[in-house]
Amino acid sequence: MKKVSLLLFILVGVLVVASSCTQPQPSEAPPPQEKPPPAVAAETPKEPQMTGDAEGGKALFISKACVGCHTVQGIPEAQGKVGPELTHQASNSMIVDVLPNTEENLKKYLKDPAVVKPGALMPNQYLTDSEIQALVAFLQTLK
Ligand code: HEC
Repeated sequence: MKKVSLLLFILVGVLVVASSCTQPQPSEAPPPQEKPPPAVAAETPKEPQMTGDAEGGKALFISKACVGCHTVQGIPEAQGKVGPELTHQASNSMIVDVLPNTEENLKKYLKDPAVVKPGALMPNQYLTDSEIQALVAFLQTLK
């Protein structure tokens, strides 16, 4: 009888040790899920993507009225004939024959075409600065 209870004691002891060894693992697992820092860190790089990236600009170009007036080869939606074709816009030396085709001037032009060229045939699209930044990034890929 003594041997049996000793065995039982050892068995229970082993079980307790075993279960106390495995328990900390599940309780350690949740903390990574609770950690807010990775979520914040993941949000920060999003901003430059939203503002400066050409893919975002292309999406804007399609979703705004641009494609209704401008043709860009390779973009099925862009068949507009009211304004000049922009397929090779980045290779132009001038913007509407008035300003040197630089990033800054392009931003100025998209902000308000009439300021750059009085009586401009392109209406103000009332774009935000980040929309302009993305559109310019996109336009600069049109070589
Ligand atoms: C209602 C028609 C219309 C819409 C909408 C429009 N444009 Fe234009 N765009 C024009 C016209 C017309 C010109 C030429 C203006 C001129 O010569 O005065 C022009 C000129 C331009 C130029 C200069 C091209 C060159 O040859 O120098 C760029 C760049 C441009 N548009 C981009 C855009 C973008 C980006 C959008 C959308 C946010 C847009 N346009 C929306 C009609 C339009």
